[in-house]
Formats: sequence, C-alpha cells, structure tokens
Amino acid sequence: MKPLKTTKTLLIGGWLLGLLLWVGAGHLPHSTGTAQAQNQHQGASPAGAQVADANYVGSETCRMCHEDQFKNFSHTPHAGLEQEASWHGRVVGCESCHGPGKAHVDAGGDPTKIINPKKLSAKASSESCLTCHAGSDDHNNFRRGSHWRNDVGCVDCHAPHDPSPVPTRPGSTTLVTGDVRRNPESTSLYMLRASEPQICLKCHSEQRAQFNMPFRHRVLEGAMKCSDCHNPHGGFETRQVRLASGTDAPCLKCHADKQGPFVFEHAPVKTEGCTICHTPHGSNNPRLLVRTQIRQLCLECHSNAHEIGAPNTPNFHNEATVRFQNCTTCHAKIHGSNVNRTFFR
Ligand code: HEC
Ligand code: HEC
Ligand code: HEC
Ligand code: HEC
Ligand code: HEC
Ligand code: HEC
Ligand code: HEC
Ligand code: HEC
Ligand code: HEC
Ligand code: HEC
Repeated sequence: MKPLKTTKTLLIGGWLLGLLLWVGAGHLPHSTGTAQAQNQHQGASPAGAQVADANYVGSETCRMCHEDQFKNFSHTPHAGLEQEASWHGRVVGCESCHGPGKAHVDAGGDPTKIINPKKLSAKASSESCLTCHAGSDDHNNFRRGSHWRNDVGCVDCHAPHDPSPVPTRPGSTTLVTGDVRRNPESTSLYMLRASEPQICLKCHSEQRAQFNMPFRHRVLEGAMKCSDCHNPHGGFETRQVRLASGTDAPCLKCHADKQGPFVFEHAPVKTEGCTICHTPHGSNNPRLLVRTQIRQLCLECHSNAHEIGAPNTPNFHNEATVRFQNCTTCHAKIHGSNVNRTFFR
C-alpha cells in the first residue's frame, strides 16, 4: 500500500473506532447479549445472525470507503430491509453478504479479511443468498436445478450492487413487466446483470438460433420471456421447465384452452404433453409442429388410420385419396372436443 494511502487509512480507522463505539452502544437494535453469529452453512454469509455480535459494524461504516457500492446498493430492495420491523436485530446490509466487517475495517480494508462472493465457488456464494432466499417457493429447489449442478450461481445472473443499465429496446423486460415502474430506482429489474432474454442467451446461444426460425415464440421480440416457461432457479422438472399452478405444463399459462378438460380428450395431450407434437422454441414448420406435414405427425401414432375396413373408418380414409391428406380439416378440434369423439368440432 502506498504511504499516503496508509496514513489516510489510519486516520479513517481511528475515526471509525469512535463511530464503532457509538454504533455498538445503542444504534443497533435488540442486543440479546449473546454473540451468536450462527451460520448454518459453512463459509456462507451470516445472514439472519443477531447483530449483537460486535464483529458487525453496519453499512454506514462500509460507506466511508465504498461509496460507489453503497450508492448502488441503496437502490436495491435489500437496502430497505433495515427499515422493516421483521428484520430488526438481524444482520442486513453489506454484512449480510460480506460477513462481519470489523476485522477488515480495523486492518484498514485488508481484502483478505472480508468475504468477497466473487472469490467463492458458485455453490458457496449461492448458499449465502439462500440463507435468506431458500424459504421462497421459487428458490427452494435451486439445488435441484441444472444451473446449480453446473456451477451457475446466483451472482452469475444477479448483480447485488452493479449499476447495470437496462436497455429499453424490444427484448428487454422493461417493456413487458410493471416491475421497473414499481421500482424505477432499481439498478435493474431484479438486479439482473442484463435483461431477459439477453442474460440467458449469453450462455445459451443455441437457443438464439431457434428463436430466429420462421415459426417461433416471439421471445427475441420481447413478447415473452424465457422465464415464462423456465424457472432459472431450478425445480423438479426436467429442463427446469416451470409448472403452471396445478397443471403439468408451462404452456397452459397462455394456452389454457388447449388443456380442457374435454368430454373427449385426445389422449397424448394429457399423457405425453404438448411437446410430443410441438417444439417449444421455434420451428420451420407452421404451428411449431415437430413434423413438416400434419399427416406425418398423425400417422406416426395412427398408422392404421388409413386401413380401409378398420372399424369405423370411412372409405375415403385411404391414402389413395387426396381428401384424406389434410387430417385437421375434418379432425379440427385436435386438442380435444366436448361434442365429438373424433374431434370434428
Ligand atoms: C477504512 C476503509 C474501509 C472500510 C471502512 C471498509 N473497507 Fe472494504 N476495502 C477497503 C480497501 C482499501 C479495500 C481494498 C481495495 C482494493 O484492493 O482495491 C477493500 C476491499 C473490500 C472488498 C473486496 C475484497 C477483495 O477480495 O478484493 C470487499 C468485499 C469489501 N471491501 C467490503 C467491505 C465491507 C462490507 C465493509 C463494511 C463492513 C467495508 N468493506 C469497509 C477499505 C475499507
Ligand atoms: C446481496 C448481497 C450483497 C450485499 C448486500 C452487498 N454486496 Fe458487495 N458484493 C456482493 C457480490 C456478489 C460481490 C462480487 C462482485 C459482483 O458479483 O458484482 C460484491 C463485491 C463487493 C466489493 C468488491 C468490489 C466489487 O464491486 O466487485 C465491494 C467493495 C463490496 N461488494 C462492498 C459492498 C458494500 C459496501 C455493501 C453495502 C453498502 C455491499 N457490498 C453489499 C454481494 C453483496
Ligand atoms: C440463470 C440465471 C439466474 C440465476 C442463476 C438466479 N436467478 Fe434469480 N432471477 C433470474 C431471472 C431471469 C429473474 C426474473 C424472472 C423470474 O422471476 O424468474 C430472477 C428473479 C429473482 C428474484 C425476484 C423474483 C422472485 O421470484 O422473488 C429473486 C429474489 C431471485 N431471482 C433470487 C435469486 C437467488 C437467491 C439465486 C441463487 C440461489 C438466483 N436468483 C439465481 C435469473 C437467475
Ligand atoms: C439478509 C437476507 C438476504 C440475503 C443474504 C440476500 N437477500 Fe436477496 N432479498 C432479501 C429480501 C428479504 C428480499 C425482498 C425485498 C423486498 O421485496 O422488499 C430480497 C430480494 C431480492 C431480489 C429481488 C429484487 C427485486 O427487484 O424484487 C433478488 C434478485 C435478490 N434478493 C437476490 C439476492 C442474491 C443474488 C443474494 C446473494 C448474493 C441475496 N439476494 C442475498 C433478503 C436477502
Ligand atoms: C452463466 C451462464 C448461464 C446463464 C446466464 C444462464 N444459463 Fe442456463 N444453463 C447454463 C449451464 C452451464 C447449464 C447446464 C448445461 C446445459 O444443459 O446447457 C444450463 C442449463 C439450463 C437449462 C436446462 C437444460 C437442460 O438440458 O436441462 C435451462 C432450461 C436453462 N439453462 C435456462 C436458462 C434461462 C432461462 C436463463 C436466463 C434466465 C439461463 N439459463 C441463463 C448456463 C447459463
Ligand atoms: C414457450 C415456452 C418456452 C420458452 C419461451 C423458452 N423455452 Fe426453453 N424449453 C421449453 C421446453 C418445454 C423445453 C423442453 C423441451 C423438451 O423437453 O423436449 C425447453 C428446453 C430448453 C433447453 C434444453 C435444451 C433444448 O433445447 O431442449 C434450454 C437450454 C432452454 N430451453 C433454454 C431456453 C432459453 C435460453 C429461452 C429464452 C431465450 C427459452 N428456453 C425459452 C420451453 C420454452
Ligand atoms: C407467455 C405466454 C405463452 C406461453 C407460456 C406459451 N405460449 Fe405458445 N404462443 C403464445 C403467443 C402469444 C402465441 C402467438 C404467436 C406469436 O407470438 O406470434 C403463441 C403461439 C403458439 C403456437 C402457434 C404458432 C403458430 O405458428 O401459429 C403454438 C403451437 C404454441 N404457441 C405452442 C406452445 C407450447 C407447446 C407451449 C409450451 C411449451 C407454449 N406455446 C407456451 C404465448 C405463449
Ligand atoms: C397430438 C398432437 C398435438 C398435441 C399433443 C398438442 N397439439 Fe397443439 N396442435 C396440433 C396440431 C396438429 C395443430 C395444428 C392444427 C391446424 O393447423 O389445424 C396444433 C395447433 C396448436 C396451436 C395453434 C392453433 C390454435 O388452435 O390456436 C396452439 C396454440 C397449440 N396447438 C397449442 C398446444 C398446446 C398448448 C398443447 C398442450 C396442452 C398442444 N398444442 C398439444 C397438435 C397437437
Ligand atoms: C403421440 C401419438 C399421437 C399423435 C401424434 C396423434 N394421436 Fe390421435 N390419438 C392417439 C391416442 C393414443 C389416441 C387414443 C386412442 C384410443 O383411445 O384408442 C388418439 C385418438 C385419436 C382420435 C379418436 C379416435 C377414437 O377412436 O376415439 C382421433 C380422431 C385422432 N386421434 C386423430 C389424430 C390426428 C388427426 C392426429 C394428427 C393431427 C393425431 N391423432 C395425432 C395418439 C396420437
Ligand atoms: C374428410 C374428412 C376426414 C379426413 C380428411 C380425415 N378423417 Fe379421420 N375420420 C373421418 C371420419 C368421418 C371418421 C369416422 C368417425 C366416426 O367413427 O364417427 C374418421 C375417423 C378417424 C379415426 C378414428 C378411427 C377409428 O378407428 O375409430 C382416426 C384415428 C382418424 N380418423 C385419423 C385420421 C388421420 C390421421 C387423418 C389424416 C391422415 C384423417 N383422419 C383424415 C374423417 C376424416
């Protein structure tokens, strides 16, 4: 460290000691008397610990040397916790992620005496977020997801105090959600490092090509998001697919009419799900179908539908007739029907 910086640090350090005493004396709420910085996860943050522990100095102390981080942090929802009654007496602010700061401050900012999540493994740094976040439905299953298993951590997608600007062009979440309006001061929606879908496409470039195909869900255009169908925070489903409440496919959030219940169900819609016939991202085939022509798709399962003489089969139901080719002109309610067993209407 340069001599000038050392002197400055010493001066600040001395002043800090005074401040610390003041803070320790009465500024922090609900001392329990027992220093219990319990930490359920080794190496994780002490979030939820009682601030009675004298090793905690409070965010205002950090501010003196880290004004930038403080400023950015103060725009995030985390900064508001200090004001909430339910968090009184708990570690909030800088030290909820960085751990107790006293040693670091006393040593004039020795970087080895403070937790820097960037230097932890993805799993260890995520654990520190999960000490507070594991309780929510959405994040409960992070440890079951593909991202966790492949060392993608919370801070690969979220920047707790980066002033990452949100682009306001189509494709950004700013156009499709009210959250930015709710919290215009936030550094970015949900503190994401980039808006969706860009944040996902950084690592999943293959999917960009799929969403450029002639028939597609308009994700790149900003009409919907990857996270409408996927939970980036993991879950029980394969491919981290989101569950619509009470149903078995993410598709039903927007296409509920295809699910029924119908008096006459088309079995595969229920048993195999939408993706047995449709590609979810994009396709060269109209209606996002997995086959170029509808009849190819149908005949894969109904290979005997053209057999003249099969029970109930009309005689035009015959590969020799052109009329037969276009299955859904007659079997129009292909996802299920309330009036007709063979889905005519
Ligand atoms: C007396 C000034 C001072 C105070 C107060 C202070 N820091 Fe620091 N901090 C520093 C200096 C100096 C560095 C080293 C910067 C560098 O190496 O570029 C640093 C580095 C850090 C780092 C990065 C460590 C690394 O691995 O590179 C973190 C994280 C950090 N401080 C957090 C905090 C937190 C949280 C608080 C409040 C509890 C705090 N600091 C209070 C001076 C301070
Ligand atoms: C929600 C968790 C969280 C909180 C709260 C938090 N930080 Fe950080 N901090 C991080 C993470 C994660 C990094 C690693 C860099 C990154 O991922 O952006 C970091 C990095 C840093 C660094 C290293 C330099 C840098 O920017 O990379 C400093 C200094 C720092 N934080 C200071 C603070 C201060 C001061 C506060 C309170 C005003 C604070 N942090 C609050 C999570 C947090
Ligand atoms: C692969 C990227 C990614 C990772 C990894 C990730 N997130 Fe998220 N997170 C998002 C996206 C995208 C959103 C906004 C859409 C949504 O809610 O799913 C979000 C939203 C959130 C929200 C606000 C919405 C809500 O559900 O309450 C919280 C809180 C959150 N993430 C916390 C976390 C925590 C904690 C971790 C680590 C355990 C984490 N995230 C890991 C991408 C990610
Ligand atoms: C001290 C407990 C605590 C820790 C540690 C913590 N969080 Fe949070 N976080 C919260 C609470 C509580 C909220 C809800 C704030 C609100 O909505 O008022 C929140 C909100 C969020 C949000 C939603 C922001 C929004 O715009 O709605 C994200 C994203 C998030 N946290 C990510 C993280 C990440 C990533 C980490 C780890 C680097 C982390 N949190 C660590 C308590 C914590
Ligand atoms: C930092 C890089 C990174 C980011 C950012 C990222 N992912 Fe991933 N994602 C991965 C890795 C690595 C895997 C595991 C390997 C794989 O299957 O491709 C994965 C796996 C997945 C899977 C499961 C694939 C499978 O075969 O099981 C889905 C779905 C997914 N990510 C969606 C998203 C979404 C949605 C976003 C944006 C919110 C996102 N990812 C952001 C790196 C990332
Ligand atoms: C309309 C819903 C939907 C949207 C939007 C969507 N996905 Fe998917 N995605 C799925 C489904 C369903 C699967 C599983 C396909 C399967 O199991 O055959 C999947 C599979 C994946 C996989 C696994 C590999 C693969 O291609 O099968 C990745 C990675 C992935 N999606 C990433 C993304 C990313 C990144 C975005 C946004 C750019 C995105 N998805 C948007 C529904 C969607
Ligand atoms: C967030 C809402 C949303 C979700 C979730 C969603 N879709 Fe869609 N889907 C749409 C919209 C909007 C359209 C209209 C086409 C467009 O965007 O241009 C559409 C169109 C379609 C089309 C017709 C495409 C065409 O060429 O006419 C099919 C097939 C489809 N979706 C299947 C699915 C499947 C399968 C899933 C689940 C993997 C799904 N959708 C999930 C919103 C959604
Ligand atoms: C057995 C195959 C099959 C299954 C399973 C299936 N679809 Fe379809 N779907 C089709 C066919 C074939 C068409 C085209 C009909 C046409 O063009 O006349 C279609 C068309 C669509 C369309 C666009 C036309 C319209 O009616 O709006 C949407 C949206 C759609 N399907 C959504 C879904 C959803 C959501 C699911 C799952 C609940 C699903 N499909 C399951 C075969 C299937
Ligand atoms: C993934 C396999 C699969 C695909 C693809 C498929 N079906 Fe089916 N379909 C079935 C099954 C299974 C049944 C229920 C058969 C039963 O109950 O005997 C069924 C039932 C039917 C029935 C009612 C038959 C009856 O006797 O009640 C009709 C009509 C039908 N499908 C037409 C079509 C058409 C038209 C297509 C193409 C758009 C198609 N199916 C695609 C599997 C499939
Ligand atoms: C011109 C109208 C028409 C077209 C086109 C058509 N069908 Fe049919 N389909 C019928 C009629 C009529 C029945 C008999 C309904 C009944 O039994 O009440 C039938 C019955 C069926 C059945 C049920 C057979 C059984 O044993 O009960 C299946 C499966 C079927 N069609 C599949 C297909 C497939 C696959 C295609 C396209 C390759 C197709 N249909 C094209 C009119 C049509």
